[in-house]
Amino acid sequence: MSVKEKIAQLREQIDMHNHRYYVMDDPIIGDAEYDSLFRELQSLETRHPELQTADSPSLRVGAAPLKVFAEVQHRTPMLSLNNAFSEGEVRAFDARIRESLGMDEIEYAVEPKFDGLAITLSYREGVFVKGATRGDGSVGEDVTENLRTVRDIPLRLKENIADVELRGEVLMFNRDFEALNASQRAKGDKEFVNPRNAAAGSLRQLDSRITAARKLSFFAYALGYCEGVTLPGEHHQQMALLQSWGVSVTKQRRVVRGVEGLLEYFRDMGEMRASLPFAIDGVVYKVNDTVLQQRLGFVSRAPRFAIAHKFPAEEASTTLLGIDIQVGRTGALTPVARLAPVFVGGVTVTNATLHNEDEIRRKDVRIGDTVIVRRAGDVIPEVARVVLERRPSDAREFVMPTVCPICGSHVSKAEDEAVSRCSGGLFCPAQRKQALLHFASRRAMNIDGLGDKLVEQMVDASIIRTPADLYRLGILAIVNMERMGEKSAVNLLAAIEHSKQTTLARVIFALGIRNVGEATAKDIARHFGSLDAILAADEDALLQVRDVGPVVAKSIVSFLQEPHNIEVLEQLRACGVMWSEHEMQSTVEQPYSGKTFVLTGTLISMSRDEAKERLEALGAKVSGSVSKKTDFVVAGAEAGSKLEKAQTLGVTILDEQQFTRLLEIN
Ligand code: IVH
Repeated sequence: MSVKEKIAQLREQIDMHNHRYYVMDDPIIGDAEYDSLFRELQSLETRHPELQTADSPSLRVGAAPLKVFAEVQHRTPMLSLNNAFSEGEVRAFDARIRESLGMDEIEYAVEPKFDGLAITLSYREGVFVKGATRGDGSVGEDVTENLRTVRDIPLRLKENIADVELRGEVLMFNRDFEALNASQRAKGDKEFVNPRNAAAGSLRQLDSRITAARKLSFFAYALGYCEGVTLPGEHHQQMALLQSWGVSVTKQRRVVRGVEGLLEYFRDMGEMRASLPFAIDGVVYKVNDTVLQQRLGFVSRAPRFAIAHKFPAEEASTTLLGIDIQVGRTGALTPVARLAPVFVGGVTVTNATLHNEDEIRRKDVRIGDTVIVRRAGDVIPEVARVVLERRPSDAREFVMPTVCPICGSHVSKAEDEAVSRCSGGLFCPAQRKQALLHFASRRAMNIDGLGDKLVEQMVDASIIRTPADLYRLGILAIVNMERMGEKSAVNLLAAIEHSKQTTLARVIFALGIRNVGEATAKDIARHFGSLDAILAADEDALLQVRDVGPVVAKSIVSFLQEPHNIEVLEQLRACGVMWSEHEMQSTVEQPYSGKTFVLTGTLISMSRDEAKERLEALGAKVSGSVSKKTDFVVAGAEAGSKLEKAQTLGVTILDEQQFTRLLEIN
């Protein structure tokens, strides 16, 4: 391709992207990619001035204004800024300025680079008369009526300045953006991609009542034409003057000296960025002295005295090569995008989360698609959206596997849940460590001395795979673990041995079935009386158990349908884990059968666990949260929100003394 053809191709591409970005508010490439096209064109045009034309997009800043708004000719052009993407480019900028001015050190006014939409506001005798978008830099769109709805744009300045034009940025605060998208979602309308597009979409409404309903904000960052006031000779002071007129300017502006001052500000703002209430995409450096600004002057579309130092792009487009499945410690299956490497947010990204199957459907992501990858702050990179225009004809839909890619157990998904899960809880290597720790925990099998470090080592060394392996451990295997003395090893073996004599409720709880907590495990044990009866139960039978609803019943069935889990249970029995069956099936009505207690605050005479056990021995159920169904709340010292809730709901409240009396008389 000849240089001329390449230039023509770049102009066409940039025009198209400008249109999508500025007119349609629906960009299909990230900022970094756009910047790189723009720079390529600029550099070719600089090297081949004979190929420059008056209509090149490099000379324009945005797209042509929408025809429906009246056109406004700007009295002084609305300029753009050159960009720096690296420390080297910032040093070169400072060196250029020092050299042209013949000075050793420059004082700069530094500000955030607001990620919004440039506008100009005209005031006559202090009254707001006209507001316009930048458009192509010389002609913009008249959006006066819409701008009047922006609350922090003053309709009258505090000074009656004869004739002044303010330049600044309209943007949407993050919280207002979230709220707007939530309401778009609720109405079934299209959501906005980011706050800047939301701000642009809101400002370009032909009906200003719609703009008024959207919360827009404004920050001024420069003066345009000005008559009737003597301006201070420094940019920073000019901003302070605007503030004294009642105009909104940012608190984050500073004056710094030299290039080190610039770079320090860049670092500081980079750190502050995530906690700012609005989006910024970099910082802007301006020579503070306005006389020096004039001496430096302008090149085509941008001033020589200022530069934007951009943060690394947080969005970039790339190809989705495939979708892998990751199995988490709790068995959740997460689809992960495998991407062609792309530089985004300062790092090269090759994987990004797709969250879950519903998200993939909602975003209509297919393998082979061009996707926009987003990385904000420290957040894990995610696939933000698909560029449908670039979908290849052979793009493939993703299908969630029906078996776990790690252990081959079946995968299930509750109707009202987005997450798919592996049901091989006791068997799946991905869930092994978590499952073992839960199994050994105090309220489950109560194996003292089996902590997370030990489990980690034993699993990593493949000494234990399932809970049944614990009962086959020999002393040698344990002693060989790090930080394991002979005495602790003997104690651990004794604890394991001791745990074999247990209760059915503990075994059920120890299995780590999703949604089956200690209380439910007890209810189930009491209801069925034997493990075989539980294994034989279907969903309907499980629904007969007190407090077991459809969600819990489904989890249990799904767990027990998995042959791998049954195998582990059989192995446990074969290893000598035992409990006396039927002992808990109680037909005698106990004093507090059917009553629900909630314990809150600190009890002096006994631990929370003891209180719970004693209540349960009386047939009561102990729950963690207060509801209308709660019969009693036991409030110890420093009881907080649960006590308040009990008071609002009118639940009977017992103090410690009343509670201990209740235990004594029963
Ligand atoms: S000064 C004469 N200051 O960035 C210089 N611009 O990429 C005029 N922007 O069109 C611009 N924050 O929309 C300036 N603190 C700031 C800015 C800022 C955001 C925008 C503005 C401009 C664009 C250039």
